[in-house]
Formats: sequence, C-alpha cells, structure tokens
Amino acid sequence: MSMKSKFVATLSAVALLGAAAAFPAAADEAKAPANGHKYPSIEKTSADAPRQYKMTPEFQAQVKKLPPEFIQQFRKMTAKHTRYSEDATARQVMMELLSDVQCVTAGLMVENGEMAADCAVRASRHRWPKGHLLAYVKLEQINADSLAALPKINGAVEGGLERVAEMALNKNFPGAGAEMGKVLEGCSNCHNLFRFGKGDSPHIID
Ligand code: HEC
Repeated sequence: MSMKSKFVATLSAVALLGAAAAFPAAADEAKAPANGHKYPSIEKTSADAPRQYKMTPEFQAQVKKLPPEFIQQFRKMTAKHTRYSEDATARQVMMELLSDVQCVTAGLMVENGEMAADCAVRASRHRWPKGHLLAYVKLEQINADSLAALPKINGAVEGGLERVAEMALNKNFPGAGAEMGKVLEGCSNCHNLFRFGKGDSPHIID
C-alpha cells in the first residue's frame, strides 16, 4: 500500500470508528434527516462518472493523436480524482483549489494540523471541471510533448499536498510549510505553461 492510500485508509477508518463508537445517534440522524433531504458530503457533491459532452471536431482530432501510453499514464496519475462536475469550469475549480490552499496555510500558521490536513487532502483530490481539464488548454498544447511537463508538476502539487497533510497531522509545521512552498511553485509552473488570458477588459483601448 502506498503512503497515500495508507493515509487515506487511516483517515476513513478513524472517521468510521469515531462515528460508530462515540456518536451512534448522530450517525443515524445523518443517514435519515427528518426533512428528507440527502445532505451532500465532500465525496458526494459531483457525479461519479464523467458526462460525455459533444466536443469540437478539432478538439477530438487533437485528443485522438495522443499516444495510448500517454493516456494510460495520464489516467493512472489522475485516478484519485473521482468527482466530475457537470457545471464548474476549470477557473471555478481552480478557485476551489485556491481557497483550499489558503485554508491549508491558515491551518499551518495557527498550528491546527487537522484543519490543514483536511483542506490539503481536499485540494489534492479536487473535482474535474466540466468536460475535463484538457478542454481548457490551448488546442496546440494538447500533445504528448507539451503535456509531458504534467507528471512532475502533479507530483509537486498533488503529491506535495498529501505530504503536507501527513506532516501537519504529525505536527511537523515547519516541514509542512517548506513543502507548501514547493506546492505553490508547482501551481505557478503550470500557470506559466498552460494558463492564458487574464480577463483583460475589452473596453480599455489605450
Ligand atoms: C495542471 C495545471 C495546473 C495546476 C497544477 C494548477 N493550475 Fe490553476 N490554472 C490552470 C489553468 C489552465 C488555468 C486557466 C483556466 C481558464 O482560464 O480556463 C488556471 C487558473 C487558475 C486560477 C484562476 C485565475 C484567473 O485569473 O482566473 C486560479 C485562482 C488558480 N488557477 C489557482 C491554482 C492553485 C492555487 C494551484 C495550486 C494549488 C493551481 N492553480 C494549480 C492550470 C493549473
């Protein structure tokens, strides 16, 4: 078992045992709320499977050109993302990411390891935007050469956030803070390569 899955398995085991042993009544209530609503949870705010959207022929052609080995590697790298939004754009998902990352830094600064770890794990497992992240990348960048930068960036950002969570739970706040620096470096590296258009105003002409 990898460090990551061990960590997640530990988290869910603690959550289950904690709920069943200490708060049986609360756990039952959560399952069947009086007003009949099913409350969402972190795991259940998006669809479990990607919805198929009709994409432009140009986009489809570009994706079709990706080598199968690349697609396999990409799938493996992103397998932990199991929530698929049918509404949120990449920018909106990025805003969630930003918000969660800010929560991590706040938690670390006040030495609240649990807060930092919760937010770090959520950031690391962010939902997919509508139509997948690739739908928001420039067409000419959808090729194995340009996308080859992703595994390293992914390791720094998503892998880094998992390391931050572990260190935060172990109360290693200086270590988690230093790791956070590498996470932020990964965010900006990816933006440098793949983020274009900063919302310039069409009304300013000079
Ligand atoms: C895999 C590449 C990638 C990584 C890693 C990444 N981003 Fe992004 N981010 C993008 C792209 C692409 C956009 C532009 C999306 C668009 O405009 O449709 C973007 C846009 C954003 C925006 C919106 C900015 C704006 O001007 O609208 C924010 C905020 C943001 N990212 C935060 C983050 C944070 C925080 C991290 C690190 C925890 C991060 N991103 C990691 C690719 C990435």
